[in-house]
Amino acid sequence: MHAVPAASARQPVAVVTGVTVVADGRLILGPVSMTLGPGEHWALLGPNGAGKTTLLSLLGAQRHPTAGEVVVLGGRLGRVDMRELRRQIGVVGHNVADRLPVGASALELVLTGRDGILAPWWGSFDAADRAAALALLERFHCGHLADQRFVQLSQGERQRVLLARSMYGRHRLLLLDEPAVGVDLPGREALVAALDSLASEPDAPATVQVVHTLEELPSSTSHALLLRDGRAVAAGRAAEVLADEPLGACFGLAVRVHRDGGRYSARAASSW
Ligand SMILES: Nc1ncnc2c1ncn2[C@@H]1O[C@H](COP(=O)(O)OP(=O)(O)OP(=O)(O)O)[C@@H](O)[C@H]1O
Ligand SMILES: [Mg+2]
Repeated sequence: MHAVPAASARQPVAVVTGVTVVADGRLILGPVSMTLGPGEHWALLGPNGAGKTTLLSLLGAQRHPTAGEVVVLGGRLGRVDMRELRRQIGVVGHNVADRLPVGASALELVLTGRDGILAPWWGSFDAADRAAALALLERFHCGHLADQRFVQLSQGERQRVLLARSMYGRHRLLLLDEPAVGVDLPGREALVAALDSLASEPDAPATVQVVHTLEELPSSTSHALLLRDGRAVAAGRAAEVLADEPLGACFGLAVRVHRDGGRYSARAASSW
Protein backbone atom coordinates (compact mmCIF):
# COMPACT_ATOMS: atom_id res chain seq x y z
CA MET A 1 0.00 0.00 0.00
CA HIS A 2 1.45 3.35 -1.03
CA ALA A 3 1.17 6.61 0.91
CA VAL A 4 -0.94 9.30 -0.70
CA PRO A 5 1.43 11.37 -2.85
CA ALA A 6 1.94 15.03 -1.95
CA ALA A 7 -0.52 16.93 -4.10
CA SER A 8 0.28 19.91 -6.27
CA ALA A 9 -2.14 22.83 -6.30
CA ARG A 10 -2.43 22.58 -10.08
CA GLN A 11 -3.08 18.87 -10.50
CA PRO A 12 -6.70 17.71 -10.83
CA VAL A 13 -8.48 17.03 -7.55
CA ALA A 14 -10.08 13.90 -9.00
CA VAL A 15 -9.96 12.06 -12.30
CA VAL A 16 -12.52 9.36 -13.06
CA THR A 17 -11.75 7.38 -16.22
CA GLY A 18 -14.06 4.82 -17.81
CA VAL A 19 -15.44 3.78 -14.46
CA THR A 20 -18.18 1.24 -13.89
CA VAL A 21 -19.69 -0.02 -10.65
CA VAL A 22 -21.55 -3.33 -10.58
CA ALA A 23 -23.55 -4.24 -7.46
CA ASP A 24 -25.47 -7.50 -7.06
CA GLY A 25 -24.70 -8.29 -10.69
CA ARG A 26 -26.28 -5.04 -11.92
CA LEU A 27 -24.47 -2.13 -13.56
CA ILE A 28 -25.38 0.82 -11.30
CA LEU A 29 -22.84 3.36 -12.59
CA GLY A 30 -20.97 3.99 -15.81
CA PRO A 31 -19.14 3.87 -17.87
CA VAL A 32 -18.49 7.40 -16.71
CA SER A 33 -15.52 9.78 -16.83
CA MET A 34 -14.99 13.19 -15.25
CA THR A 35 -12.18 15.49 -14.20
CA LEU A 36 -12.60 17.69 -11.15
CA GLY A 37 -10.13 20.55 -11.22
CA PRO A 38 -8.83 22.66 -8.33
CA GLY A 39 -11.18 25.53 -7.47
CA GLU A 40 -14.10 23.88 -9.28
CA HIS A 41 -17.54 23.53 -7.73
CA TRP A 42 -19.67 20.87 -9.36
CA ALA A 43 -23.38 20.26 -9.13
CA LEU A 44 -24.43 16.63 -9.59
CA LEU A 45 -28.03 15.97 -10.60
CA GLY A 46 -30.12 13.11 -11.90
CA PRO A 47 -33.23 11.05 -11.19
CA ASN A 48 -33.46 8.87 -8.07
CA GLY A 49 -31.27 5.82 -8.57
CA ALA A 50 -29.18 7.46 -11.32
CA GLY A 51 -25.91 6.72 -9.48
CA LYS A 52 -25.11 10.08 -7.84
CA THR A 53 -24.37 8.73 -4.36
CA THR A 54 -22.41 5.87 -5.91
CA LEU A 55 -20.21 8.33 -7.82
CA LEU A 56 -19.74 10.39 -4.66
CA SER A 57 -18.66 7.29 -2.73
CA LEU A 58 -15.90 6.75 -5.31
CA LEU A 59 -14.75 10.38 -5.08
CA GLY A 60 -14.81 10.08 -1.28
CA ALA A 61 -12.60 6.96 -1.37
CA GLN A 62 -15.40 5.00 0.27
CA ARG A 63 -15.51 2.26 -2.35
CA HIS A 64 -13.61 0.92 -5.35
CA PRO A 65 -14.86 0.91 -8.93
CA THR A 66 -15.57 -2.44 -10.53
CA ALA A 67 -13.62 -1.34 -13.62
CA GLY A 68 -11.84 1.80 -14.73
CA GLU A 69 -9.63 4.16 -12.76
CA VAL A 70 -10.33 6.69 -10.01
CA VAL A 71 -7.54 9.03 -8.92
CA VAL A 72 -8.41 11.26 -5.94
CA LEU A 73 -5.97 13.90 -4.66
CA GLY A 74 -3.22 12.22 -6.64
CA GLY A 75 -3.84 8.75 -5.23
CA ARG A 76 -5.26 5.92 -7.31
CA LEU A 77 -7.97 3.96 -5.51
CA GLY A 78 -6.74 0.44 -4.93
CA ARG A 79 -3.13 1.57 -4.68
CA VAL A 80 -3.19 4.08 -1.81
CA ASP A 81 -4.28 4.05 1.80
CA MET A 82 -7.99 4.94 1.55
CA ARG A 83 -8.15 6.11 5.20
CA GLU A 84 -5.38 8.62 4.61
CA LEU A 85 -7.23 9.94 1.58
CA ARG A 86 -10.49 10.23 3.51
CA ARG A 87 -8.85 12.51 6.08
CA GLN A 88 -8.48 15.14 3.37
CA ILE A 89 -12.10 14.95 2.26
CA GLY A 90 -15.09 16.57 3.99
CA VAL A 91 -18.33 14.65 3.54
CA VAL A 92 -22.01 15.30 4.21
CA GLY A 93 -24.36 12.41 3.48
CA HIS A 94 -26.81 9.97 4.97
CA ASN A 95 -24.21 7.22 5.32
CA VAL A 96 -22.02 9.53 7.43
CA ALA A 97 -24.77 10.27 9.96
CA ASP A 98 -25.39 6.54 10.38
CA ARG A 99 -21.78 5.86 11.37
CA LEU A 100 -21.24 8.65 13.89
CA PRO A 101 -20.68 7.81 17.56
CA VAL A 102 -23.92 7.59 19.54
CA GLY A 103 -23.93 9.83 22.61
CA ALA A 104 -21.68 12.55 21.19
CA SER A 105 -22.75 16.16 21.53
CA ALA A 106 -23.17 18.37 18.47
CA LEU A 107 -19.88 20.15 19.22
CA GLU A 108 -17.98 16.88 19.62
CA LEU A 109 -19.30 15.70 16.27
CA VAL A 110 -18.06 18.84 14.55
CA LEU A 111 -14.60 18.18 16.02
CA THR A 112 -14.53 14.69 14.46
CA GLY A 113 -14.70 16.36 11.04
CA ARG A 114 -11.10 17.49 11.20
CA ASP A 115 -9.49 14.16 10.46
CA GLY A 116 -12.51 12.41 9.03
CA ILE A 117 -12.59 10.32 12.17
CA LEU A 118 -15.76 8.62 13.21
CA ALA A 119 -14.39 7.38 16.53
CA PRO A 120 -14.82 9.45 19.73
CA TRP A 121 -11.34 10.96 19.98
CA TRP A 122 -12.44 14.47 20.84
CA GLY A 123 -10.49 14.45 24.12
CA SER A 124 -7.41 15.48 22.15
CA PHE A 125 -8.92 18.82 21.06
CA ASP A 126 -8.07 22.02 22.95
CA ALA A 127 -10.03 25.19 23.76
CA ALA A 128 -9.11 26.84 20.43
CA ASP A 129 -10.37 23.79 18.53
CA ARG A 130 -13.63 23.92 20.44
CA ALA A 131 -14.02 27.64 19.79
CA ALA A 132 -13.51 27.07 16.05
CA ALA A 133 -16.07 24.26 16.07
CA LEU A 134 -18.56 26.45 17.92
CA ALA A 135 -18.04 29.25 15.39
CA LEU A 136 -18.94 26.80 12.61
CA LEU A 137 -22.08 25.72 14.42
CA GLU A 138 -22.99 29.40 14.75
CA ARG A 139 -22.41 29.85 11.02
CA PHE A 140 -25.27 27.39 10.54
CA HIS A 141 -27.33 29.10 13.27
CA CYS A 142 -27.12 26.19 15.68
CA GLY A 143 -24.53 27.27 18.25
CA HIS A 144 -27.20 26.86 20.93
CA LEU A 145 -27.25 23.11 20.18
CA ALA A 146 -23.53 22.62 20.91
CA ASP A 147 -24.00 20.61 24.11
CA GLN A 148 -27.03 18.62 23.02
CA ARG A 149 -26.70 14.98 22.02
CA PHE A 150 -26.67 14.65 18.26
CA VAL A 151 -29.12 11.75 18.25
CA GLN A 152 -31.71 13.88 20.05
CA LEU A 153 -31.67 16.65 17.44
CA SER A 154 -34.33 17.13 14.77
CA GLN A 155 -33.56 16.12 11.18
CA GLY A 156 -32.77 19.65 10.05
CA GLU A 157 -30.73 20.38 13.18
CA ARG A 158 -28.68 17.22 12.58
CA GLN A 159 -28.07 18.24 9.00
CA ARG A 160 -26.81 21.66 10.11
CA VAL A 161 -24.38 19.98 12.53
CA LEU A 162 -23.16 17.68 9.74
CA LEU A 163 -22.60 20.70 7.50
CA ALA A 164 -20.53 22.38 10.21
CA ARG A 165 -18.63 19.10 10.66
CA SER A 166 -17.78 18.85 6.95
CA MET A 167 -16.25 22.34 7.02
CA TYR A 168 -14.18 21.79 10.17
CA GLY A 169 -10.52 21.39 9.27
CA ARG A 170 -8.78 22.08 6.01
CA HIS A 171 -10.12 19.68 3.44
CA ARG A 172 -9.07 19.66 -0.18
CA LEU A 173 -12.32 18.17 -1.39
CA LEU A 174 -15.83 18.63 -0.02
CA LEU A 175 -18.56 16.16 -1.03
CA LEU A 176 -22.14 17.14 -0.24
CA ASP A 177 -24.89 14.59 -0.86
CA GLU A 178 -28.23 16.44 -0.70
CA PRO A 179 -26.87 18.71 2.06
CA ALA A 180 -30.05 20.78 2.40
CA VAL A 181 -32.37 17.81 2.92
CA GLY A 182 -34.71 18.53 5.84
CA VAL A 183 -33.22 22.00 6.37
CA ASP A 184 -35.57 25.00 6.53
CA LEU A 185 -35.34 28.05 4.24
CA PRO A 186 -32.99 30.13 6.45
CA GLY A 187 -30.87 27.00 6.92
CA ARG A 188 -30.64 26.43 3.17
CA GLU A 189 -29.65 30.02 2.61
CA ALA A 190 -27.02 29.72 5.37
CA LEU A 191 -25.64 26.70 3.53
CA VAL A 192 -25.57 28.54 0.20
CA ALA A 193 -23.86 31.55 1.84
CA ALA A 194 -21.33 29.29 3.59
CA LEU A 195 -20.45 27.54 0.33
CA ASP A 196 -20.06 30.86 -1.51
CA SER A 197 -17.92 32.22 1.31
CA LEU A 198 -15.79 29.06 1.37
CA ALA A 199 -15.35 29.22 -2.42
CA SER A 200 -13.96 32.77 -2.15
CA GLU A 201 -11.21 31.76 0.30
CA PRO A 202 -7.68 31.05 -0.93
CA ASP A 203 -7.05 27.30 -1.17
CA ALA A 204 -10.79 26.64 -1.05
CA PRO A 205 -11.63 22.95 -1.39
CA ALA A 206 -13.12 21.75 -4.67
CA THR A 207 -16.72 20.70 -4.09
CA VAL A 208 -19.25 18.27 -5.54
CA GLN A 209 -22.83 18.88 -4.42
CA VAL A 210 -25.69 16.49 -5.18
CA VAL A 211 -28.99 18.37 -5.30
CA HIS A 212 -32.56 17.68 -6.34
CA THR A 213 -33.61 21.33 -6.36
CA LEU A 214 -31.55 23.93 -8.18
CA GLU A 215 -32.29 26.56 -5.49
CA GLU A 216 -29.79 24.78 -3.25
CA LEU A 217 -26.88 25.60 -5.52
CA PRO A 218 -24.65 28.54 -4.57
CA SER A 219 -23.72 31.06 -7.25
CA SER A 220 -20.13 29.79 -7.00
CA THR A 221 -21.26 26.57 -8.75
CA SER A 222 -18.94 26.41 -11.74
CA HIS A 223 -19.72 23.05 -13.39
CA ALA A 224 -22.48 20.47 -13.53
CA LEU A 225 -22.81 16.78 -14.34
CA LEU A 226 -26.17 15.22 -15.15
CA LEU A 227 -26.50 11.46 -14.62
CA ARG A 228 -29.24 9.20 -15.90
CA ASP A 229 -29.16 5.41 -15.53
CA GLY A 230 -25.56 5.64 -14.39
CA ARG A 231 -24.34 7.54 -17.44
CA ALA A 232 -23.50 11.17 -18.05
CA VAL A 233 -26.20 12.95 -20.05
CA ALA A 234 -24.32 16.27 -19.94
CA ALA A 235 -21.23 17.68 -18.25
CA GLY A 236 -19.44 20.99 -18.38
CA ARG A 237 -19.92 24.63 -17.44
CA ALA A 238 -22.86 25.08 -15.08
CA ALA A 239 -24.56 27.79 -17.15
CA GLU A 240 -24.65 25.48 -20.19
CA VAL A 241 -25.58 22.25 -18.42
CA LEU A 242 -28.16 23.65 -15.99
CA ALA A 243 -30.39 24.65 -18.87
CA ASP A 244 -33.78 23.59 -20.28
CA GLU A 245 -32.61 21.00 -22.81
CA PRO A 246 -29.97 19.05 -20.87
CA LEU A 247 -32.09 18.96 -17.71
CA GLY A 248 -35.15 17.95 -19.72
CA ALA A 249 -33.22 15.08 -21.33
CA CYS A 250 -31.87 14.00 -17.96
CA PHE A 251 -35.23 13.87 -16.19
CA GLY A 252 -37.45 13.01 -19.15
CA LEU A 253 -39.55 16.09 -18.44
CA ALA A 254 -39.78 19.41 -20.26
CA VAL A 255 -38.38 21.96 -17.79
CA ARG A 256 -37.78 25.69 -17.73
CA VAL A 257 -34.73 26.90 -15.87
CA HIS A 258 -34.60 30.37 -14.42
CA ARG A 259 -31.34 32.07 -13.48
CA ASP A 260 -31.17 35.09 -11.23
CA GLY A 261 -27.94 36.57 -9.87
CA GLY A 262 -26.09 33.28 -10.33
CA ARG A 263 -28.78 31.24 -8.54
CA TYR A 264 -30.97 28.74 -10.38
CA SER A 265 -34.52 27.45 -10.12
CA ALA A 266 -36.49 25.06 -12.35
CA ARG A 267 -40.11 24.05 -12.98
CA ALA A 268 -41.98 21.80 -15.38
CA ALA A 269 -42.37 23.73 -18.65
CA SER A 270 -46.12 23.14 -18.86
CA SER A 271 -46.80 24.98 -15.59
CA TRP A 272 -45.20 28.23 -16.81
N1 LIG B 1 -24.87 -1.85 -2.54
C1 LIG B 1 -25.77 -1.90 -3.51
N2 LIG B 1 -26.25 -3.06 -3.98
C2 LIG B 1 -27.14 -3.11 -4.96
N3 LIG B 1 -27.64 -2.04 -5.60
C3 LIG B 1 -27.21 -0.85 -5.17
C4 LIG B 1 -26.26 -0.70 -4.11
N4 LIG B 1 -26.03 0.61 -3.92
C5 LIG B 1 -26.82 1.25 -4.79
N5 LIG B 1 -27.51 0.39 -5.54
C6 LIG B 1 -28.45 0.73 -6.64
O1 LIG B 1 -27.72 1.54 -7.53
C7 LIG B 1 -28.54 2.55 -8.08
C8 LIG B 1 -27.88 3.90 -7.86
O2 LIG B 1 -27.92 4.19 -6.49
P1 LIG B 1 -27.47 5.61 -5.93
O3 LIG B 1 -27.66 5.57 -4.45
O4 LIG B 1 -26.11 5.92 -6.42
O5 LIG B 1 -28.54 6.57 -6.62
P2 LIG B 1 -28.77 8.12 -6.45
O6 LIG B 1 -28.61 8.75 -7.78
O7 LIG B 1 -27.93 8.65 -5.35
O8 LIG B 1 -30.32 8.19 -6.07
P3 LIG B 1 -31.14 9.14 -5.04
O9 LIG B 1 -31.45 10.40 -5.80
O10 LIG B 1 -32.40 8.37 -4.77
O11 LIG B 1 -30.29 9.36 -3.82
C9 LIG B 1 -29.90 2.41 -7.42
O12 LIG B 1 -30.75 1.74 -8.32
C10 LIG B 1 -29.63 1.56 -6.19
O13 LIG B 1 -30.73 0.75 -5.89
MG1 LIG C 1 -28.32 9.43 -3.47
